[in-house]
Amino acid sequence: MTTSSSERGVSLGMPELPAPAYPDDVRARLEADAREVIARYPDSRSALLPLLHLVQAEEGHVTRTGMRFCADMLDLTTAEVTAVATFYTMYRRKPSGDYQVGVCTNTLCAVMGGDAIFETLQEHLGVGNGETTDDGKVTLEHIECNAACDYAPVVMVNWEFFDNQTPTSAKHLVDDLRAGRPVQPTRGARMCTFKETARILAGFPDERPGAVEEGGSAGPASLVGLRLARGEAAPARVVHPRGGPHEEQQDRVHEPSPAEHLSSHDAPQETSASDPAHPAGPTAEEGE
Ligand code: FES
Repeated sequence: MTTSSSERGVSLGMPELPAPAYPDDVRARLEADAREVIARYPDSRSALLPLLHLVQAEEGHVTRTGMRFCADMLDLTTAEVTAVATFYTMYRRKPSGDYQVGVCTNTLCAVMGGDAIFETLQEHLGVGNGETTDDGKVTLEHIECNAACDYAPVVMVNWEFFDNQTPTSAKHLVDDLRAGRPVQPTRGARMCTFKETARILAGFPDERPGAVEEGGSAGPASLVGLRLARGEAAPARVVHPRGGPHEEQQDRVHEPSPAEHLSSHDAPQETSASDPAHPAGPTAEEGE
């Protein structure tokens, strides 16, 4: 008699097939929701992304069962669904916390403090990248640019922005989330759990009283370019004080003088090309 690799405890890195189905009552409920989503699209396969959010709202991450459900509903193969689910980082592939705390460590946020925030949170929470706290509340991860560089460094919780963070404010943020205290993002409705967020992203209304009215929009710094393009006068320089009521030490808002505020647009920088000894830039020594 032969034994399978899984019976021998050997993983070949291949998915086990077939995935188990949802219990009948769960499937009936999800089917009704899925049909509502699919009806919004001229081509049913276009509903795959919201359906993946729907199954993520059910289990907190996209399981093989969820992918099989999506494939059944959209007449796709599980391979096609898997290819999409594994491409987008918004779909989680393993059980995670109620709050996905993402610290932007892309270049601008990193130099503005994102790296320090991430290190602080790892130590404060006792978890590494992609790991979840023992209470199941917070999953920490470092993330790429969130297109919110004008508010760097930013932290995202379940895709809501927390602008101009510091290590101290980030620690208070995760403490509040773990304690179940109400948390309001900088630009958006008050926080809800990852599963609740996933259902909203699947296209179902946010039914929390007042939540829609709390929804945020682009902040002033993000709209400066638009205002200039419309011919409006350049606004005063936007400087956001870091932290908030929790911040133990408020940073002073300092308007730098032109001499202090050097950037590539303000004044010539010391570069190799401006080195008087080498006006044309660095030159290679003969033989190098
Ligand atoms: S680098 Fe962090 S939002 Fe762009």
